[in-house]
Amino acid sequence: MIISNQHEVTEAVLSELSRAPSARFREIMSAAVRHLHAFARDARLTEAEFHQACAVIAKLGQLSTESHNEVVLIAGSLGLSSLVCLLNNGDNGQTDTTANLMGPFWRMDSPRTDNGGSIVRSPTSGTPIFVNAWVRDSDGRPVEGAEVDVWHTSSDGFYENQDPEQADMNLRGKFTTDSDGHISFRSVKPAGYPIPLSGPVGELLRAQGRHNMRPAHIHFMIYKPGFKTQFSQVYSSDDPNLETDVQFGVTRALVGQYVLHDGEQAPADDVRGKWYSLDHHFVIEAGEAKLPKPPITGKASGERPAQVILERTA
Ligand SMILES: [Fe+2]
Repeated sequence: MIISNQHEVTEAVLSELSRAPSARFREIMSAAVRHLHAFARDARLTEAEFHQACAVIAKLGQLSTESHNEVVLIAGSLGLSSLVCLLNNGDNGQTDTTANLMGPFWRMDSPRTDNGGSIVRSPTSGTPIFVNAWVRDSDGRPVEGAEVDVWHTSSDGFYENQDPEQADMNLRGKFTTDSDGHISFRSVKPAGYPIPLSGPVGELLRAQGRHNMRPAHIHFMIYKPGFKTQFSQVYSSDDPNLETDVQFGVTRALVGQYVLHDGEQAPADDVRGKWYSLDHHFVIEAGEAKLPKPPITGKASGERPAQVILERTA
């Protein structure tokens, strides 16, 4: 099609897309083209701004490696990851869901651990925490025999795979729900942590005066054939960054009650003074149990990464 004016460009591209034999490809790409063209019109994008946007997108790819994915990081920082999660869970966005983002650090083959066991596998500072979690189906019935992977940061804000001071698989474990759909374990309370600022995500946050912190959380992954595999994160109710999570991951259903106990009898005799408890319930939906490709396969070598923290402007 020979184009007469700016309106006809969109028509020409949509017309060519209609040739694609895959209905889903046509649907996705036609919507993408309509919205991209509408975006350029709405924003009155200049040529210089368009070239700048292309450079940013190229940089996202150039910075992505085996151990760092700048594309996923910016999708989270723009709320797109959270939106896609909420659209696809909770009866396709109709109800609350305990599903949440997978995050970059799930590892396959976490050590199988008995209920009540500890996932502290090398000396790790921090306040002890005792976690109870229950898994139910959409009708409220306990789900027995679900595998529940758990992983979180140390009190310094590092996952074991980032940290040569922690043993392999420290603060990770795989549990199985009992007939009440229940698992329990002992660990140390995790800390929040900053996301990396080395690329376009850093520029995006600085341009808005945002900080780069995720509030403290524990990750869960619940797997049982017959149910959609659920990734979740349970955020610490006392974290100062709940309202401003840089990845927009905090939902009402996932603010966990991390209860501080001071001097009360703990569930383990060796714990004196302060300790936390966390009780949380998950609901999983009927569907296909699939495991994604793990985003990482082992520990990084070398030093801990430097933690660079941006302050949120007033
Ligand atoms: Fe995390």
